Amino acid sequence: MASRSKALCSRSLAARIITAVSRDKHSLTAELGRSLPLLEDTQRSHCQQLSYGVIRHYGTLDYLSQQLLSKPLKAKDQDLKNLLLCGLFELKQMRTPPHAVLSETVNASKRLGKQWASGMINACLRAYQRRADSLTEHLASDNEARSAHPAWLLDRLKHDWPDRLNDIIDTNNQAAPMMLRVNRQKCRRDDYLTKLAQAAIPAHAMDNCPDGILLNNAVDVHQLPGFDSGEVSVQDGSAQQVVKLMNLEPGLRILDACAAPGSKTCHMLEHEANLDLLALDIDAGRLKQISENASRLALNIPLLCADAGQPKSWWDGQLFDRILLDAPCSGIGVIRRHPDIKLLRRPEDIAQLALKQQQLLDALWPLVRAGGMMIYTTCSVMKQENEQQIEAFLQRHLDATELQIADAPAHRTRVGYQRLPGDDVMDGFYYACLQRS
Ligand SMILES: C[S@@+](CC[C@H](N)C(=O)[O-])C[C@H]1O[C@@H](n2cnc3c(N)ncnc32)[C@H](O)[C@@H]1O
Repeated sequence: MASRSKALCSRSLAARIITAVSRDKHSLTAELGRSLPLLEDTQRSHCQQLSYGVIRHYGTLDYLSQQLLSKPLKAKDQDLKNLLLCGLFELKQMRTPPHAVLSETVNASKRLGKQWASGMINACLRAYQRRADSLTEHLASDNEARSAHPAWLLDRLKHDWPDRLNDIIDTNNQAAPMMLRVNRQKCRRDDYLTKLAQAAIPAHAMDNCPDGILLNNAVDVHQLPGFDSGEVSVQDGSAQQVVKLMNLEPGLRILDACAAPGSKTCHMLEHEANLDLLALDIDAGRLKQISENASRLALNIPLLCADAGQPKSWWDGQLFDRILLDAPCSGIGVIRRHPDIKLLRRPEDIAQLALKQQQLLDALWPLVRAGGMMIYTTCSVMKQENEQQIEAFLQRHLDATELQIADAPAHRTRVGYQRLPGDDVMDGFYYACLQRS
């Protein structure tokens, strides 16, 4: 484990984390995992709040910083720019007393080894305090800055969901609620709700997810009763709805083709322990996360590290009753959980991902037995990855029929079902059930 550094504070570390995401294009989750252990325990939550908050509102805060700085900072000083964004975020959205924001942000510039910039940070934050109203008014005329979404993404969302654009943006810019999935092999949902009440964690059952619980406030997982012994997992309701579509029965032979980190694999086995299930993923590191989840939940899951798009290299020739293709996607339905998507994705990614999804769909389809099903899901709201993808698939494969679902998991689209972010408080998600004749 990395040794803790007294030289770092929550603000200076947040500035470094945000720089790793915004300039170096690292993932926020990975960067937090690497960096937070460097801090004293008492500072970690503040650093995490700042990192998420600034990344979530990056477009807005960056715009404000441009109005406040006399000239742009060099690439090597992006940590300072991001420290300034932390200060602006604290002044705008957090309850820290303003005098503490100013003095601690200035101190943090020294901890970054850039004492020369402390006067500039101080001056910019003071200028923001004086000019907040006029700057906010100015901001309203700039779509990217106001919405904190890049222009290309605004265009794509507007193209696909013109009537829902503002709802999607509002949801993307809010922190996501925490949802749990109760392990029905170990505990009834009502009993688990009682345990939460006894632990003073307010929560309620989710209507449309039989195993789902919505917490009023997010908590550390280790505060959850029975988390370590596998009574419960963290999972959004949208993802929990996939298990129902699998129409599980004892003995079915199932391929979870893009399985890591294994939340849907584990959920399937919690519903039906007697499955002949293979969990496959191309990423060995992520596959390890399935083992960790499975061991906490006391599940035994055969794992395979392989390319689902190249079945010749791993398939034993036995057909599957069900294939779950929870495809690699742009993640544009889960921006509220992963706000770094707004900084990391590029417009050309959508077409590249759609091509990859098409290759996976086509490569796996011959592995479904006649009468069997492939369930295709993404956590995207882009039609190119979802309904257009499946429409084109149905045109290429005349032995495929889309099954309509009686108790629909989300809104019906031309083909499949789409939930937009925030609908029923859940993440954006797409579902299609394809039967082979
Ligand atoms: C959306 S995530 C899956 C989430 C997972 N189903 C769950 O519920 O926890 C997509 C996964 O696809 C994997 N992947 C991407 N390309 C792949 C390929 N060609 N073959 C197998 N897995 C692939 C990625 O490593 C990633 O873990």
